[in-house]
Amino acid sequence: MVDTGEFVEEAVAEIRGAVGDANAVIALSGGVDSSVAAALAYEAIGDRLTPVYVDTGLMRKGETEEIRETFDYMESLRVVEAQERFLDALAGVTDPEAKRHAIGERFIREFEREARDADADYLVQGTIYPDRIESEGNIKSHHNVGGLPEVVDFEGIVEPVRDLYKDEVREVARALDLEEVVSERMPFPGPGLAVRIVGEVTEENLEVAREATHVVEDELTSYDPWQAFAAVIGKATGVKGDNRVHGYVVAVRSVESRDGMTARAQELDWETLQRIQSRITGELPNVSRVLYDVTHKPPATIEYE
Ligand code: XMP
Repeated sequence: MVDTGEFVEEAVAEIRGAVGDANAVIALSGGVDSSVAAALAYEAIGDRLTPVYVDTGLMRKGETEEIRETFDYMESLRVVEAQERFLDALAGVTDPEAKRHAIGERFIREFEREARDADADYLVQGTIYPDRIESEGNIKSHHNVGGLPEVVDFEGIVEPVRDLYKDEVREVARALDLEEVVSERMPFPGPGLAVRIVGEVTEENLEVAREATHVVEDELTSYDPWQAFAAVIGKATGVKGDNRVHGYVVAVRSVESRDGMTARAQELDWETLQRIQSRITGELPNVSRVLYDVTHKPPATIEYE
């Protein structure tokens, strides 16, 4: 575990040293990693940091509003409303890697424009230790690691939390007094809900993934999972009222892990599972079936794509 006081002091000094009198930009994702990196950088260089939050429309329920509130104190915060542009970029795309690529590309375009506007020479990133390992292993393309630096011509990249594990980042977040919704937030993938939808992302299945994930996160807080969410994995027949419907199949996933590199499916009690099932099928008329994923990682990954 890290000595958080010492860590914060050293990280702030490192950022000041690296950025000097120049401007920097950071892509805020709402997750704890980039939030901590942003808070440290803001403490180091104040409004010379432009935090950019791109609302991809692939975020969790209420996340954009929470980000606005949490970072309200940063006057330089920019929120980019890019939901429609992301949906357009994803139209007709079904291959998992192609989806990640389309999102990564779109994200770079949005971010590049803001970085130029902010006249930023430095890029601050919330990359943590496991991101680097997994990217080196090239298990899949993580859009928050690859890509950005090559496209935008930055003088330097600063990664203040690069040596920390997620639980250590959370400790630093608490030490920095970041709000609990941020410090305790479950990890969320860069490509957002898109990797929790098997096949093409549409406005309709995106809404199902968002609402169902909200139910799962809400119901499983007491299990303290590393991640818990719902994924839309296809369609199947069901009966609602007097009618047969061809509704969505939602898979519920809840895993324990330290770093996301391996994970164990959590054992949940039947009542909890039934409550989740009845809330999801009750609140979402177009869902006909709810499954629980009992697969560990490996052989499965945590996300679905
Ligand atoms: P998988 O699905 O590979 O996920 O077992 C391992 C951990 O990484 C997260 N994840 C991502 N995070 N960009 C991210 O920032 C990504 O492209 C990405 N893909 C997966 C996932 O949520 C889990 O915590």
